[in-house]
Amino acid sequence: MKKDLIIIIVLLFIALQLTAQLPLIPYPAHVSIKEGSFQFSNKTKILYDSPLLKSMADASATSWSALKALQIETLAHKNGAVEHSVVLSLNQPYNHELGMEGYQLEILTSHVVISANAPSGIRYGLQTIGQLLDAATDAKISCATIVDFPRFSYRGMHLDVSRHFMPMSQIYKMIDELERHKMNVFHWHLVDDQGWRIEIKKYPKLTDVGAWREDKSDKHWNDRSLSKAGAKTTYGGYYTQEEISSLVAYAAERNITVIPEIEMPAHVMSVLAAYPELSCTGENLGVPPGGVWPITHIYCAGKEETFNFLEDVLTEVMEIFPSSYIHIGGDEADKTEWKKCDKCQQRIKDEGLKDEHELQSYFIHRIEAFLNAHGRKLIGWDEILEGGLAPNATVMSWRGEEGGIAAAKMGHNVIMTPGSHCYFDHYQGDPSVEPLAIGGYTPLSKVYAYEPVPAELTENEAKFVLGAQANHWTEYMPVPEQLEYMAFPRLAAIAEVLWSPRSSRNWESFVYRMPAQFQRYEARGLNASKSAYQVKINAKPAPGKSLEIIFSTELQTSSIRYTLDGTEPVDESLLYTGPFILSETATVKAASFSNGMRQGAVITKTFFLGKTNGAKIKLTPAPNERYAHKGNTALLNGISGTVNHQDEEWLGFSGDNMEALIDLQSSEKISKISVITLHNSSAWIMEPSSATIETSVDGVTYADAGKTIIDKPLKDGRQIIEVNWEGDAKARFVRIKLQNYGPLPKDHPGAGKASWLFVSEIFID
Ligand code: ACM
Ligand code: ZN
Repeated sequence: MKKDLIIIIVLLFIALQLTAQLPLIPYPAHVSIKEGSFQFSNKTKILYDSPLLKSMADASATSWSALKALQIETLAHKNGAVEHSVVLSLNQPYNHELGMEGYQLEILTSHVVISANAPSGIRYGLQTIGQLLDAATDAKISCATIVDFPRFSYRGMHLDVSRHFMPMSQIYKMIDELERHKMNVFHWHLVDDQGWRIEIKKYPKLTDVGAWREDKSDKHWNDRSLSKAGAKTTYGGYYTQEEISSLVAYAAERNITVIPEIEMPAHVMSVLAAYPELSCTGENLGVPPGGVWPITHIYCAGKEETFNFLEDVLTEVMEIFPSSYIHIGGDEADKTEWKKCDKCQQRIKDEGLKDEHELQSYFIHRIEAFLNAHGRKLIGWDEILEGGLAPNATVMSWRGEEGGIAAAKMGHNVIMTPGSHCYFDHYQGDPSVEPLAIGGYTPLSKVYAYEPVPAELTENEAKFVLGAQANHWTEYMPVPEQLEYMAFPRLAAIAEVLWSPRSSRNWESFVYRMPAQFQRYEARGLNASKSAYQVKINAKPAPGKSLEIIFSTELQTSSIRYTLDGTEPVDESLLYTGPFILSETATVKAASFSNGMRQGAVITKTFFLGKTNGAKIKLTPAPNERYAHKGNTALLNGISGTVNHQDEEWLGFSGDNMEALIDLQSSEKISKISVITLHNSSAWIMEPSSATIETSVDGVTYADAGKTIIDKPLKDGRQIIEVNWEGDAKARFVRIKLQNYGPLPKDHPGAGKASWLFVSEIFID
């Protein structure tokens, strides 16, 4: 009783604390909520004391007027009446705590004041008021004092427009969103194998040829073979220098630096389709219409022409982009061609280099010297550490945090963007219901939990971590709607990671503030994902060969409804009130509901409860260690894998057959056996070519149980493939042999290589 009371008091305390939160994302550094409120009305004016603030004042007046059906005007202002107004003021002694991006906001009953050292601070203060206002029901906002400034100076978003070209209107839309999320860097990935996207006047073929590829959109990204000579290249696009300059200026006005990325020495097949002489072999392989791996067709590091070309390109790039940083890529260069190229080998000899890694390092050093001579700084992916880091380079750490840690310890600036937390091309919900993505699993809560400063760094070394960045690689984001789906709401999480003080980051508070953020996204016509409302279905073994089923969601939802009969859950379906016991095979379908409306997809999981519960299993050979996850018992835990092959229910066998020997512990009557396998040809996973099932009473003599039936896969699709047997047998031991598909077929990009056999469950009844 006493314990319950304490729990209730604690919960009430938390609830009170949460309701004392303002509906702001990212949350300000210091907030002090006061009595009373300020009422916006037609008397409200935005007053500014510097002409530098006029355009942002005008923009806010327009946006707030539209939001609350008011007529808010703006006015240049020195001294005088401020009643009813929002006063913007740069007129103060420099405030060190605020820096160049911070602001102070005083919301009084009579008027509001935003003061800052620089226009960017005022701009962020206006964004804060905008959020308070759009969450207010009656144009009335609570009195408060807010002192706010960012934790990190680099708060970035990266967008790959090579894999899929995005129209300029979408780039503007993203810039507007970055401003609203108080982010300040747009890293524009303009170059990659599948398309060159920036006009270069000296090399017109870069866009005439390099911006266009054969349309093979009907095939999975990784199933698109290189185009044949003369193929029609109709898919792509590029931005003119004039368009880019306008965008860069628009972003700068919003305190957003645009950093261009001009990839080298790899990820440039689009260039080599236009200027094949810049490669080692001179071969023209065209612009690849889909995935290429490994990337061997790269710039020749032995030819002077390569460097002349790159200096010309970078000269034009620097004219359009005033950013102090120029990103030169540097990632994933396979050195196969360099090893075979006379010119590259001669360069290694002439420069006294040890190997091809040092040749890459030579390449990057040389480009850095060129950029530095023009007053710019080089930034590159963490591969630029290999063979020796260029003296002034900044490292973007993407293959985990190691590269960032190493660079910071060497005294180099670092941007953190590890795949685990910052790759927004990863799934954010259950892959079985999500649009196709590249893989991985980076839900909203995982992004929110990201800490850009690795624990390995000392306080001094940590200063080299300038910030972090969310990356949007677009292999699986062919259209703007899909980009928005992957970006939002995860950008809200990373924005808070980067802006708010470490000490005030709080998941419960973020969850509490998210409904208002979703309303904003909806009002702005953004296709934000509701995946964080999906129900996660988990199971634990329970007594009596049963399972305990547990539901959860990332974001708070008013109710979870479910069914056990295979029908779609609706608002009247069973209400989830806590974990429940399942004692027979069932398909569980569950979804979140709010105000009678479903939020997020329906999640389906089938649990098999049969004679295999408590049975023992031996696998020969053992699964490949990359896909051994939960171990052999995963095959008997009653849970089958989803179509996502990275789902931990799957065991994988590379090139091998699988033999499973199951001991049911006692002799049982058996009438049905199902083995759950997978077909996902783009991940090189193929269904078994044949299957045999044998049974035994004593574990010594086995008899063939008879015919098995294997599902037929649909071409190119990801699909669960069942191997089924039905009959009549009495046995304690069951031996199941699945024959690996064998080498990948002729029309497959990995033709002739070993295929994977994936198995997630064996069901015996
Ligand atoms: C990268 O993801 N290749 C930087
Ligand atoms: Zn070469």
